[in-house]
Amino acid sequence: MKKDLLYIFLLILQTAHAQSPRTIIDFNNDWKFFLGNDSTAIAADHNDTKWRTLNLPHDWSIELNFSKDAPATNQGGSLPGGIGWYRKVFVLPASTKNKNVSIEFDGVYQNSEVWINGHYLGKRPNGYVNFRYDLTKHLKPSPQKNVIAVKVDNSQQPNSRWYTGSGIYRDVKMIITSQLSLGNFFIIPTLFRRNHGQWDVYNHKDTGAVFGNINFSSLDINNFTSKNENVEVEFILKNKSGIILNKAKHQFKADSVWGGRFGIDRTDGVWGVQNPVLWSPANPYLYNLEIKLYSKGKVVDAIATSIGIRKIEFQSSTGFYLNDLPVKLQGVCMHHDLGALGAAFNKEAAKRQLKILKEMGCNAIRFSHNPPAAAMLDLCDEMGFLVIDEAFDMWKKKKNKFDYYKDFTEWHKQDLEAMIYRDRNHPSVIVWSIGNEIREQFDSTGTTITKELTAIVKRIDPTRPVISALTETFAEKNFITKANALDLLGFNYKDYDYAALPNRFPGQKFIATETASALETRGVYQFPSDSIRIWPPNYKVQDTFASGNKDYTSAAYDNTYAYWGNTHEKSWLAVKRNDHIAGAFVWSGFDYIGEPMPYPKFPARSSYFGIVDLAGFPKDIYYMYQSEWSNKNVLHVFPHWTWNKGDTVDVWAYYNNADEVELFLNNKSVGKKTKTDSSLHVMWRIAFEPGILKAVSRKNGKIILVKEIKTAGKPHHIELIADKKNLKADGKDLSFITARVVDRDGNMVPDSDNLIEFSISGPAAIAATDNGYQADTVSFVSNKRKAWKGMLLAIVKSGSKKGNITLTANSPNLISGRISLKTAD
Ligand code: GAL
Repeated sequence: MKKDLLYIFLLILQTAHAQSPRTIIDFNNDWKFFLGNDSTAIAADHNDTKWRTLNLPHDWSIELNFSKDAPATNQGGSLPGGIGWYRKVFVLPASTKNKNVSIEFDGVYQNSEVWINGHYLGKRPNGYVNFRYDLTKHLKPSPQKNVIAVKVDNSQQPNSRWYTGSGIYRDVKMIITSQLSLGNFFIIPTLFRRNHGQWDVYNHKDTGAVFGNINFSSLDINNFTSKNENVEVEFILKNKSGIILNKAKHQFKADSVWGGRFGIDRTDGVWGVQNPVLWSPANPYLYNLEIKLYSKGKVVDAIATSIGIRKIEFQSSTGFYLNDLPVKLQGVCMHHDLGALGAAFNKEAAKRQLKILKEMGCNAIRFSHNPPAAAMLDLCDEMGFLVIDEAFDMWKKKKNKFDYYKDFTEWHKQDLEAMIYRDRNHPSVIVWSIGNEIREQFDSTGTTITKELTAIVKRIDPTRPVISALTETFAEKNFITKANALDLLGFNYKDYDYAALPNRFPGQKFIATETASALETRGVYQFPSDSIRIWPPNYKVQDTFASGNKDYTSAAYDNTYAYWGNTHEKSWLAVKRNDHIAGAFVWSGFDYIGEPMPYPKFPARSSYFGIVDLAGFPKDIYYMYQSEWSNKNVLHVFPHWTWNKGDTVDVWAYYNNADEVELFLNNKSVGKKTKTDSSLHVMWRIAFEPGILKAVSRKNGKIILVKEIKTAGKPHHIELIADKKNLKADGKDLSFITARVVDRDGNMVPDSDNLIEFSISGPAAIAATDNGYQADTVSFVSNKRKAWKGMLLAIVKSGSKKGNITLTANSPNLISGRISLKTAD
């Protein structure tokens, strides 16, 4: 009986495939994995029964232990690399006869090589770009089995200045199309304004009708039939609610073998949408466009893509404009790791990072120094972020012994093209970056390579500006700017030079591609707070720096930075004051694994630069940005209020939308303070006495916000807070659960470091734990870890079954915490 049901189910699946012109199969599940090198695994009949079964995306490094001897060094996160093999056995859907089948990898770190049924398909050294292989001629039809084998080699170390992860760490898809199919396409939505009876370039000040023109700059049609074909392409434009706004059909002749590239250029403003809702970070409105390919009246392929209609422009003296309105880029730089989950991409984890940044008022992200996961850009489109998409951290000159410099000459063209082809239809992407702090800046090879790379980008996308993130602020010494090929100049740090840039680089447009590089550990406070520490103070001691804190921390007051950087406040003020700087990209949005500046040695293994710590807990500086970058009322008072009698404590407050803040200690006023032009916080220096510290912000005498902090008692119980209680039973959904060590009354005990063990029941697993402390050496996959400054994070991952889940947090001497979650369809 069960067998019959299965048969009917399979039949339905096959019929569904036969009807749908394009099948995209999520190819992430049920892979076999072996950590080590075994070249016999290429063979189709290789016995992999003893290998581990897992689902992608997968990062094997994050599952391993930190080690002071890791060849990646603590710059790479003190985690091992190595070689790993993946295999997957699969049976094609029966309907794939006469179809083209390909496999697409969104990113494999690194040096991947792929075989299908023992046939070598190719290699891809670059760990951050997407690539695809056509499998068609090597496949066996259903019900025979096929085997795909992937070798990943991340053994040559060090190869990066930050943690990379190892493995097939992004999505894999199988794509099945007809022999006639749609290929690459490039849509350029353009805005027009009806003025004096004709369509002009959009100008927000005029009042005539607005038209969002959906211009196809190119559309490839693949034709693997052996004949020239007459085809039709239909475009269907829908709004967010699925209502059809416009339809059009065009005829083409598609030559056999390749098909052709067709430009369907309509600059007469006739096809698109009247009075469109414009895409912006505040309102990331997406239209939907379906493209259907017809042969002999039948649909043979169809794809759908979202479209954001927006206009971008940079001006040399006044910065960035979105839809003709000035917008300062309030950006952060982000590496690709997802904290304790490592490099393994997970959409929910990425969404959480973006939500935290959005809440801060961040409107832009520079994905440094490589293209992010494709799904990350989908999220940026949907959630409203302006993106700098960056290709390289080095060209021919290395930064590390085994880094991409080895592959640059042979692969840069394909790798750069892969980024632009994949990402050029995203409304979120506003700038292409061809490199970060490239060493060729300092000699004439920089000029040649800049010209070449810029030309590669422009050929595939002539619409977006090209930038490089530079450090050399003198035009005569900068061989990249000498190429005169860039549309925008990015400068990292050196905010003291901002004012001089327009004179040194006349007529150019500027972005502060990196700012700050300030160093903070969440929850650490040292006095006095107003003395600046430069850690390390200069280049010479960078590798030997030993005068930091004994416990590898750095105070959370904004008073410590690496010698090339500045405090967050000073960095932001410099960008704010210079209209010609289109915006700031703070280094960095989140802490990331690796590059634990200022500490050159293990156990420091993750960075201190983040506005948010590695676990996703905001540091105090988060609220400085929030007070400057968002419109919501902000009043953030710190540090905690649990000190020893007689301690002198510096109390800081970040606030906005108010003209003063008054501080009260046990109901006695300690004084009113107001920010000055040169400072974005206020401070009181007071003697500690236990009780309640209260801050009140007022505008014209009216109370805007009140914040209270109480002196905490002894650690008493564990409080658990989930960011999400209802999860999808899809084996991927995540709930981020914060554990707080609190006293009897629920006040967080600020210095508590209790060892907490999580356990779970129901259809879910504890994927990782973290506390944000940069020198914690307990593996991320451990369910047992010490709290750091009162807080700890557990990441729960749903299984594929529905049911109730309970997460319990136990610790000796504390009352346990317990929280219920649920998985459903
Ligand atoms: C910059 C570099 C970044 C990061 C940062 C740390 O020079 O571009 O990748 O290393 O410094 O301060």
